[in-house]
Amino acid sequence: MCIRDRHKMSDIIVDLDLRSYKIIVKSGALKSFPSYLKPHDNIKNFVLITHDSIMKLYGSNLKNNLESLGYDIVEIVLPDGDDSKDLEIYNKIITKMIESNCDKTSVVIALGGGVVGDISGFVASSFMRGINYYQVPTTLLAMVDSSIGGKTGLNFSRKKNIIGSIYQPVSVIVDPDLLDTLPFNEKVSGLGEIIKYGAINDRNFVNKLHEWVKDIESFPYIEAIERCCQIKAEIVTKDEKETDLRRVLNFGHTIGHALESYFGFKKLRHGEAVSFGMICSTYISFKKGFLDTGEYNLLIETINQLPLPKLSKVDPDKIMHYINFDKKNENGKLNFVLLDGLGKAKISQEVSSSEILESLKVLSEY
Ligand code: GLY
Repeated sequence: MCIRDRHKMSDIIVDLDLRSYKIIVKSGALKSFPSYLKPHDNIKNFVLITHDSIMKLYGSNLKNNLESLGYDIVEIVLPDGDDSKDLEIYNKIITKMIESNCDKTSVVIALGGGVVGDISGFVASSFMRGINYYQVPTTLLAMVDSSIGGKTGLNFSRKKNIIGSIYQPVSVIVDPDLLDTLPFNEKVSGLGEIIKYGAINDRNFVNKLHEWVKDIESFPYIEAIERCCQIKAEIVTKDEKETDLRRVLNFGHTIGHALESYFGFKKLRHGEAVSFGMICSTYISFKKGFLDTGEYNLLIETINQLPLPKLSKVDPDKIMHYINFDKKNENGKLNFVLLDGLGKAKISQEVSSSEILESLKVLSEY
């Protein structure tokens, strides 16, 4: 697709009957935020939830823009580095909303990465039994994944996302210009999730990514983000509640989550951990005969071109411990995502511990 055609792309819609919404991917979209509001909405005020540095970079302008149109803004600015999405922060936000006289017509804006999106979505889903919210992702990972599909969540008692809901936003507004200020390793993390979409859904996209990731500085972010959003929208449209198909979005995540827990969330970013998880899952798919050598090499080479952090020695038994913990949450059965040909995923309950342990050996080269 040439650059000019790309801008003629039709809107990306998450099609869920009355809860359907648009994903807008457009350079400069943040400045035009008011134009994406539903014209008939009678909005009392906006609750702008963000992190400190994002408030300075983008939030203040958004606030001024909305205030100049006569809206009141309730600012909720979390300290940078505070990624605790727990009941304490939830409590603070709800308290501030009550003090600010928020009501059913207040509208939440989640301006940030996955943590802000998850907290804000949960606040919106639960305040007065549900108010409207907009997702405005500022990280690449949030632009292609967490801001879409309505998953919201809080951690509780060391359990990730154990409190949460599926509650769809009014719209997701993706402004790729915001990537200009995103740290390099956050871009790498997002690229891991982008490769995931090709692996599970679009072989031709993997062919393109194989070339594009050779030069991350000139990577065509808009085109890649649009493709990922299309794929995610299609999957969520078919299986909003993750009863079946939506699970394929967890490709690389079973081992990825275990690596995140093992190394600590600060050392390994989510998309980096998922990239290592994809390497293992691709290996298992190949060993089971679901991928041919060409497909295996193409995907592994694409992932290997990402400047991933160096892994220190992995203790396979500890990784298995975390994986088995996940398994308990799924009624004793591990729903492992495998590739069934490149660009196609399937869920398998037939992945053994010894296959996982063997795949972890591949990580000793990293
Ligand atoms: N991040 C996976 C999902 O939204 O289902």
